[in-house]
Amino acid sequence: MPKAVRFTRYGGPEVLEITEVPQPRAGPGRVLVEVVAAALNPGEIGIREGVFAAVWPARFPEGQGNDFAGHVAEVGDGVEGFSVGDRVLGFAPRAAQAEFVVAGPGALAPMPAGLGWAEAASIAGAGATAWAGVEAVAPRPGETVVVSAAAGGVGVLAAQLAKLRGATVIGTASEGNFGFLRGFGIHPVAYGPGLAERLRIAAPDGVDAFLDTFGNGNVDVAIELGVSPARINTIADGRAVHRYGVHSDAQEQADEPAIWAQLAEYAGKGELTIPIARTYPLDDVRDAYRDLATRHVSGKRVLAVKPFASEGNRR
Ligand SMILES: NC(=O)c1ccc[n+]([C@@H]2O[C@H](COP(=O)([O-])OP(=O)(O)OC[C@H]3O[C@@H](n4cnc5c(N)ncnc54)[C@H](OP(=O)(O)O)[C@@H]3O)[C@@H](O)[C@H]2O)c1
Repeated sequence: MPKAVRFTRYGGPEVLEITEVPQPRAGPGRVLVEVVAAALNPGEIGIREGVFAAVWPARFPEGQGNDFAGHVAEVGDGVEGFSVGDRVLGFAPRAAQAEFVVAGPGALAPMPAGLGWAEAASIAGAGATAWAGVEAVAPRPGETVVVSAAAGGVGVLAAQLAKLRGATVIGTASEGNFGFLRGFGIHPVAYGPGLAERLRIAAPDGVDAFLDTFGNGNVDVAIELGVSPARINTIADGRAVHRYGVHSDAQEQADEPAIWAQLAEYAGKGELTIPIARTYPLDDVRDAYRDLATRHVSGKRVLAVKPFASEGNRR
């Protein structure tokens, strides 16, 4: 029987179990995918801890993970455009961290040559979220854009997408990530007390747009710097959305295979780098979430549901 991540009560990483589940089948209009890699996202911690229970209650035994990449294993009646063996990436809410997922064709996109498994698994979650935020503030060539938590899974992609639009990008990070950000042509500035003043020095002509990927007062800083609410997006601060009327575009606003395919194409061609901080075997899912919960990282943390060596990442 295939394995899947499950939890049967709210709690810390210790409630996560690798369990055997019945073999899923494609069924009419659906596609069965044998998962190779599945990404980790901080929102999954809140769901598992029960923090979001009022909005997104768990249905125990609950699955985990959304964005994945793998091979098509079975194509249901009536599905066109996918064949057994195709490499695909996609989104399967609370189900992706498993050896098999079943998805509709509208939740899958092809994986282009040149794209690795871990990178592909990060596209429909962090990639789409970054895309939505950048589209919301629409940076123009020559403008200055600030990205908070720019070394994070979403931030490092949003910063690169803003650069692809011709903007100069300032990214906030801790000092250990300054070199990492410079490698992408992102100007690093330390987050924390005094951020507004440091940004004034880094951007003497002003900040045109602000992409907040962390919350914790970043939108207040953007407002203090005079950035128009119409040019601010946050994916982590609902209070600021109500207070200032800033955008809150995220994964839901880019939940489209055509957008994932565009991101995958950028990444396959090397125009967008999806940095993988670390991959973890499926059996180490608890450790992976312990590391994710530190909220210090350089890129994405991804589960290798099927083992793939780094040199085999692209097979
Ligand atoms: N609504 C949606 O559809 C959606 C989708 C995806 C994500 N999200 C949300 O977006 C947020 C970012 O997700 P993510 O995957 O990018 O998270 P992540 O990868 O865990 O981000 C970690 C980054 O946060 C930075 N950081 C830590 N403490 C900070 C602080 N006090 N101030 C500023 N930055 C700090 C870290 O910088 P250093 O390592 O340099 O210290 C690290 O690089 C999360 O809140 C997540 O829940 C929402």
